[in-house]
Amino acid sequence: MKLDREDIAARQPATGLISKRGRRHLARPRAETKKTLMKTAAIDRFGPPSVIKLRLLPVPEPGPREVLIALHAAGVGVWDADIRAGWWPQGRPKFPLVLGSDGAGTVAAKGALVRRFNVGDKVWAYEFINPKGGFYAEYVAVNAEHVGRVPRRLDLLQAGAAAVTGLTALQGIDDHLRVCKGETVLIFGATGAVGTLAVQFAKWRGARVLATASGRAATELVKRLGAKGVFDPRSPRAIEQLRALAPDGIDAVLALAGGKTLEGCLDLVSPGGRVAYPHGVEPEPKRRPKVRVIAYDGEASVLASARLERAVDEARLRVPIAAVYPLAQAAKAHERLKKGQVLGRIALKIR
Ligand SMILES: NC(=O)c1ccc[n+]([C@@H]2O[C@H](COP(=O)([O-])OP(=O)(O)OC[C@H]3O[C@@H](n4cnc5c(N)ncnc54)[C@H](OP(=O)(O)O)[C@@H]3O)[C@@H](O)[C@H]2O)c1
Repeated sequence: MKLDREDIAARQPATGLISKRGRRHLARPRAETKKTLMKTAAIDRFGPPSVIKLRLLPVPEPGPREVLIALHAAGVGVWDADIRAGWWPQGRPKFPLVLGSDGAGTVAAKGALVRRFNVGDKVWAYEFINPKGGFYAEYVAVNAEHVGRVPRRLDLLQAGAAAVTGLTALQGIDDHLRVCKGETVLIFGATGAVGTLAVQFAKWRGARVLATASGRAATELVKRLGAKGVFDPRSPRAIEQLRALAPDGIDAVLALAGGKTLEGCLDLVSPGGRVAYPHGVEPEPKRRPKVRVIAYDGEASVLASARLERAVDEARLRVPIAAVYPLAQAAKAHERLKKGQVLGRIALKIR
């Protein structure tokens, strides 16, 4: 996968100029030109990880309400793999299709109506099926309402790995489960990209957090993140173990994986308890009497970004990153995802 050197040189944005006297000046921010090309990891057809190729494509032009982000990192999600393999939620896909729904970087240009950001600001963003292309790219143009400031405690790699998963975890714990101090909360699927963040947000809200984990490394990780009790959902004694951890029942469950063991766990939810799961979890948790079962999507908005920024700092959130791949190895990142047992999130390092 070789790129044309001239193409790459031609599309490098100027961030600084060296004058004749050797002094460094900051170049005036400017919008990218239409001719400018960028490196992307894109697909020309649905298929296995090997369909992901490094491609030079035009830098998207930000519309009046959009921000052009020079990406430093992008998250790799299980839903990206579903899309790559042929799952497409709306209309007909346009190839080449740049994968990726979230990431972080710096504002490279902005539309005329964007007031919240300046060129150079550190931002993260989430846009599912972005019409102007995904985040496995050097640049992405995103609706400014779906862009937030990177919280102080995160670097751009961590932020790139936590934009949509952070929103999904926080909204699950706060908006849908409304976790309160002293409640017993189970995070089912706690070792993955959303779960590792959800454990921390539930702990921050003062809950007694129970978590699933398979294997020693996974168990140690969720304990470090704040889980008080951990059990292996793949053990034949899983439900028995959970019953011992929660003899008085469970108040709320965030389900990040489905199936028979989850259903057994949900039998231990107290009357009046809540179960939330983001769309994509399969099989979906079954409805049951006296328990509220809530399906939701992680949503990006100005308010959601501000709340996440604050929650990340207050919860002193850590973003576990299981593996980092350069953009050119996005196919390898998808192969790793396929193997499972990913502790936290996989990320692409773009700059
Ligand atoms: N709708 C939305 O807005 C939205 C946003 C984000 C995520 N999601 C969905 O939420 C789900 C979780 O996302 P994620 O990124 O956190 O995925 P992930 O990183 O793959 O994590 C999945 C977690 O579930 C566990 N798990 C998988 N199969 C299991 C089973 N049969 N029994 C028990 N545990 C099992 C995994 O543990 P092991 O590693 O040990 O298997 C891991 O802890 C996915 O379905 C995703 O599509 C939806």
